[in-house]
Amino acid sequence: MPDIVISEYMHGAAFEALRARFDVFLDAELWKKPDLLAEKVKNCRALIVRNQTPVTAALIDAAPELLVVGRAGVGLDNVDVKHAEQAGVVVSFTPDQNAISVAEIAMGMMLSLARFIPAANQDTKNGNWQRSKFMGTELYGKTLGIVGAGKIGFLTARRAMAFGMRVLAYDPFLSQDNILLSELQGELVELDELLARADVVSCHLPATPQTTGLLNRERFRKMKRGALFINTSRGKVVSEPDLVEALKSGIVGGAALDVRSEEPPKTGELETLPNVILTPHIAAFTREAQERVSRAICEDIARVLDGKPSMSAAKSAVPRRLATK
Ligand code: MLT
Repeated sequence: MPDIVISEYMHGAAFEALRARFDVFLDAELWKKPDLLAEKVKNCRALIVRNQTPVTAALIDAAPELLVVGRAGVGLDNVDVKHAEQAGVVVSFTPDQNAISVAEIAMGMMLSLARFIPAANQDTKNGNWQRSKFMGTELYGKTLGIVGAGKIGFLTARRAMAFGMRVLAYDPFLSQDNILLSELQGELVELDELLARADVVSCHLPATPQTTGLLNRERFRKMKRGALFINTSRGKVVSEPDLVEALKSGIVGGAALDVRSEEPPKTGELETLPNVILTPHIAAFTREAQERVSRAICEDIARVLDGKPSMSAAKSAVPRRLATK
């Protein structure tokens, strides 16, 4: 029976080092086979997942020897952290390792929407040369609204500053004298004010009961007409039907979504709208981020199996900042 079960894709030098020291069972498709997964974890001491494996209370209970769940990534919405804690199982994750990649793709989305790069690319490849059709807008001098000013939101805002954007941030767990906000020369405002003033709204929220559907019809109606909307965090924070309505009515001028309320999504209206850019949850998929994520999680799992404390443990079922609300 394996020491470590890995239910999603994993590779790299740190993974090879882990495999050299422990008995590892890796099946990148195991998350699709819940019965086999429950069978495999029965005697394992560590389970490593990405975002597709639901680590439920039942799965944790099916693994009485389990010491640690490793989440190769930042979002913990697929792991029952509270139950793990109660069961005495450490949940280790890698909150900082892919933040730069996500911030970079958020900037890419902003530029793509403002300058119609994907549509112009497709049109030109179709044999056309239509310059005036793709009259864009500059980011310079515009206002970026960061919804959720954690690490990724902060890194995105810092990059936007280099483009000459002003920064507004909404985050109920930050205060105006927060050091990172001062570095951004950003203004901390309420969500409604941010939506009313921002030319570009970029979401960087975890999926929690409090954030589910936060961006809904009521909120889209508060947005500046024609503003751009970007979500590289979690799909569940956006009501997709309400976003479609806002796009069709012109309230939202364009949207770029890397994440969806259901993944993979069912094809629907979003796929048909010309002012929408869709990507398959690739924000963290860069060689550099994945190298860092794999190294961080494999090294931390080895530490726990060696009897040392985790260097990167999640302490609560909800983000600590939400828990103190
Ligand atoms: C994350 O939560 O780290 C990213 O969304 C990528 C992933 O879920 O693996």
